[in-house]
Amino acid sequence: MISDETRAAIDVEIARYPKRRGALLPALHLVQREHGCVSEDSAAELAEIFEIRAIDVLEVVSFYNMFYDRPQPRHHVYVCTNLPCSLRGGRTLLRQLEAHVGSKVGVPTEDGKLVLGHEECLGACAYAPMLRIDDTYYEDLDADRAKRILDELE
Ligand code: FES
Repeated sequence: MISDETRAAIDVEIARYPKRRGALLPALHLVQREHGCVSEDSAAELAEIFEIRAIDVLEVVSFYNMFYDRPQPRHHVYVCTNLPCSLRGGRTLLRQLEAHVGSKVGVPTEDGKLVLGHEECLGACAYAPMLRIDDTYYEDLDADRAKRILDELE
């Protein structure tokens, strides 16, 4: 259930847009921050708030890869594998991290700590290879440093 605090924050967002629906993306971020994902129940609540159908909310959730419709591991680790990062070892780094955590891309680790993924370009090509953990960038990486960073995650 969406908390009163999150609902109030959604109302603030709605007031910023000429059309109510314009605030749907910020509202999804707020709900996901509170619950870790946007479940069907949350989608139904948002649909009521935005006066649209729940399926309209779920379509947005499934369109953007930053939204999740089910509970997630604690951290998302995205290694950039676009060309500039790949030329500097991004793809190799991703394979090394798969071996290090014992789990393939897209498969959460058994302890629920993280899931690995790859990104196309995170706009930090000058600092390749790089990765993103949740909202934080880590740049100019080598395998040892990247493994240490993952080991130190809570
Ligand atoms: Fe990796 Fe741009 S190619 S950040």
